[in-house]
Formats: sequence, structure tokens, C-alpha cells
Amino acid sequence: MALTSELKMLLITRGTFGQLRRIHASAAAQAAERLKAFEIYRWNPDKPGEKPHMQTYKVDLNTCGPMVLDALIKIKNEMDPTLTFRRSCREGICGSCAMNIGGTNTLACISKIDGGDLNKPVKIYPLPHMYVVKDLVPDMNNFYEQYRSIQPWLQRKDEKTEEKGNAQYLQSVDDRAKLDGLYECILCACCSTSCPSYWWNGDKYLGPAVLMQAYRWIIDSRDESTKSRLDQLRDPFSVYRCHTIMNCTRTCPKGLNPGKAIAEIKKLLGGIATKDQPGLETAALHKK
Ligand code: SF4
Ligand code: SF4
Ligand code: FES
Repeated sequence: MALTSELKMLLITRGTFGQLRRIHASAAAQAAERLKAFEIYRWNPDKPGEKPHMQTYKVDLNTCGPMVLDALIKIKNEMDPTLTFRRSCREGICGSCAMNIGGTNTLACISKIDGGDLNKPVKIYPLPHMYVVKDLVPDMNNFYEQYRSIQPWLQRKDEKTEEKGNAQYLQSVDDRAKLDGLYECILCACCSTSCPSYWWNGDKYLGPAVLMQAYRWIIDSRDESTKSRLDQLRDPFSVYRCHTIMNCTRTCPKGLNPGKAIAEIKKLLGGIATKDQPGLETAALHKK
């Protein structure tokens, strides 16, 4: 049977692609493995007699993505499905993959694996000084309760009488700029769990992450609960356990400065600074 020219072309193309695929596969197989050790903290609440321990996995970096989270996912998928960790966005936005990698609190999804020195293992622990739920999963309940305690939402004096949904609470450009460096926080808790004061007094000291969010609402020009927000922090522990050690700012994977935010709160509490009047007064827009 005579082949049409289209059919001939299709067979030639398929043959070429097949050959190429075979060449690539054999080249990959021939490339020397680049094995890197990952030493990972393991603890299983279902085995109460077993103490926490480190477990080592060897990962071929040739067949692994570039980030530490890629290695963790590869280990879980291909070697040990019991390895437990949190992750969601894989791009530094959700904050769920926060852990201690090589001695630094950071996000696994934006931490590059050091492929330069294959003999140096990557050591991974859960966030320090937190109760552990399992393996790399810390118990965040206290942290979230503390976040809840600062009432992280916009509050207005005339909330009951201001008509909702027909006008915005306007903000001047300058007032909006005051939120820069604060609103970007993803509440990963890397900073709080790097803070020695938070390690020792985590039940009463709010810690840098929550205090930075407290400050974010205190200085928001549209918020009118400034006085009660500050009064809530006026005790020996909530703010004043911060001794300006600055571990928090050094470790923040988003490049934020919670240590500075705490210093600003102290200035407001001490009366050294006061909140500016709003650049735009919008209450009138909400009156009927
Ligand atoms: S300030 Fe930085 S380290 Fe702290 S919770 Fe926010 S993003 Fe995470
Ligand atoms: S500056 Fe304050 S909050 Fe930050 S690590 Fe030091 S003591 Fe903790
Ligand atoms: S997976 Fe969301 S920050 Fe890492």
C-alpha cells in the first residue's frame, strides 16, 4: 500500500521524537547521581514510647526541584509517606511551611538546597520551642489565640450607626504608606519562634509577629480603637518582654522588621510618639 506524503511525514516526526526521548532518558540515567543527605526531626505521637530522633534520607538532586520543600515532597512521595509537614502555596505566601532549616527559621518553599557541598547534610527541625504535633508540624494554637487577642480587624467608633456598603473608608497616600512593611506579614511565626523572650514567656509575651500586627492596626488611619488597643498592651509582659535582641528581624523570610514595629509600640505606650490625625476624614461619607 502506498503511503501518503502526510503519513510519511508523521512517521518520520514520531520516529525522531522517540529517538530524542530515548537519548535524553539514557543521558539522565548515565548522569552521576548527586546524593545529598537530609537529616529530619521525627516524632510520632502514636508511638509515645519512642523519643524524638533524626532520620536521614538521601535525595538525588538531579531528579529533585531546587527548593528544600521540593526535597521534602520527594521524600514523602518516593521514600517515606509517613514524613509529616505543612505546605500549601509553595511560593512564600501562605506561611505554612515554616521550619528550622540549617539553624535558621525560614520557609522551606523559598529555601534553596545548597547543591555546592554534597557532603554537608541539610538539617531540618520544626520551629523551635513550640509543642510538636508530629514531625515538622508545630502546634500553632497559642500563636493564633494571641493573634485573635489583638482583634486584627478595622474598628470604628460609630460602627453601629455608620451605614455599611455604600462608601469606602478612604485613606491618604501617606497614611496608606504607613502600612508598608507591616501588611505583608504572612504570620509564618518564624520571628516569634526565634525570639528568646518568646521561648521563655510565650504564654504572656505576645511575640514579634503578633505585636507587629497589633501595630499595623494601631497606626491604621481608618481605625479608631487606638486607645483601647494600646491600653490592652499596657502590662509588664505583652510588649515589655521584648529586649530588642532583634533575632526576629534577622530571621523574617519576608524581609520585614517586627523589632522596629515593637519599638514604635513602646514609643506610643510611653507617650514619646502619638498617632497622626488621618490625612483624609471619611466619617462624613457614612452619615445618612
Ligand atoms: S514578621 Fe516575618 S517572620 Fe514574622 S510572622 Fe510575619 S512574615 Fe513571618
Ligand atoms: S527584638 Fe524583641 S521580639 Fe525581636 S527577637 Fe528580640 S526580644 Fe524578641
Ligand atoms: S508553602 Fe506556602 S509559604 Fe511555603
